Amino acid sequence: MNVLLIGSGGREHAIAWKLSQSPLLTKLFIAPGNAGTALCGINVPIAMDNFPALAQLVRSEKIKLVVVGPEDPLVKGISDYFKEQDDLRWVGVIGPSAAGARLEGSKDFAKQFMEKFGIPTARYSTFTLGKGNDSIEEASAFIGSMQPPYVLKADGLAAGKGVVILNDPEEAISELREMFAGKFGSAGKKVVIEEFLDGIELSVFILTDGDSWLLLPEAKDYKRIGERDTGLNTGGMGAVSPVAFANPAFMEKVKARIIEPTIKGLQVSGIRYQGFIFFGLINVKGEPFVIEYNVRLGDPESEVVIPRIKSDLLELFIATADGRLNGKQIEISGESATTVMLVSGGYPGDYQKGFPISGLETDTDGIVFHAGTAILEKQMVTNGGRVLALTSLDTTWKKALKKSYKTAKGITFEGVYYRRDIGFDL
Ligand code: AMP
Ligand code: GLY
Repeated sequence: MNVLLIGSGGREHAIAWKLSQSPLLTKLFIAPGNAGTALCGINVPIAMDNFPALAQLVRSEKIKLVVVGPEDPLVKGISDYFKEQDDLRWVGVIGPSAAGARLEGSKDFAKQFMEKFGIPTARYSTFTLGKGNDSIEEASAFIGSMQPPYVLKADGLAAGKGVVILNDPEEAISELREMFAGKFGSAGKKVVIEEFLDGIELSVFILTDGDSWLLLPEAKDYKRIGERDTGLNTGGMGAVSPVAFANPAFMEKVKARIIEPTIKGLQVSGIRYQGFIFFGLINVKGEPFVIEYNVRLGDPESEVVIPRIKSDLLELFIATADGRLNGKQIEISGESATTVMLVSGGYPGDYQKGFPISGLETDTDGIVFHAGTAILEKQMVTNGGRVLALTSLDTTWKKALKKSYKTAKGITFEGVYYRRDIGFDL
């Protein structure tokens, strides 16, 4: 079978790496891909939101399955686009309809969904620009009824930057004014204000055909740039899987209170959903709450989750697209996986690209997943903020992490930075 994978990050390299091992795969195309995905298949320089050009590629290469890595094309309706083309309706798409992608694309929609289906999440209220001073006054009253800190979330996609946590009620109101004024563009026309939940976060993933679902390995990611979780938020600086506190008792609660009601909620709402659901959870004294939904795999979580999957992922994707997941099993390795992200100097602020990367040719005791890399005049160079994810596997996460750090020592580029404390809180 010919497959098209959409995306260009570490997550997509991990998916491409796994799919390329499947005996069911004939040709793998990646649009647009990176220097790592080029090792697993054929990169095609088509932008992720150029649906007509992607559709043309699917026609000309007789592609039967499209796997969507990031959220953006899903929120923009790529899955619906394929279903609407008479000759492409039969192409399987891993990734939900635009209606399903609203779970990630609109924080307000996600909160309403959770409220409606009794899924545990922080108490909240949504405020909308255009109601003049009313919404500011209502927000002040709501904030007055809450304990600090206050969590403000721009409703729409804001490249992971749309959440601001503040201790002072007046600062919270001026943040709300800034969001309304366009700090996050149109994403901030609506703002969810919610209660702060104090606990430890983890990422839980399922693959679903809208009816049945399979639980993937859980993971913990490290989002802040600085050690001990300080400084600005990034796309993710490292990850660990499994997560010890996600013990069987906790995971039973996650299944019964969060996963099952989410699937039922999608069905009751008439939302077609074939793909991944990423539950961003927080464990508050042993009780799980949903911080956010994402409609895709995480990055860098994929770089530890996928290497632990022993089953043929392409076979599971085909079953998902065909609505045949019922009765399928997923085999997970008992090994632990860690990944450490090498990033460009200055990231997540301004940074330069195009620095040569050296040390990749040496044999490492793990898997080097590419995120922001490119080939320039036959030389591997940096091409993004997050550059490489160094994944290792071993019997314990501490042993795996040692290997990831050993690999990190051998790879260099100008300005390289990585966190040396991944797993510090486990
Ligand atoms: P999100 O973009 O929704 O993932 O939020 C970014 C980060 O903000 C999360 O990973 C959490 O660390 C934090 N966060 C969001 N909502 C809450 C909340 N209600 N309580 C505590 N932390 C939160
Ligand atoms: N690592 C978090 C995310 O992919 O959103």
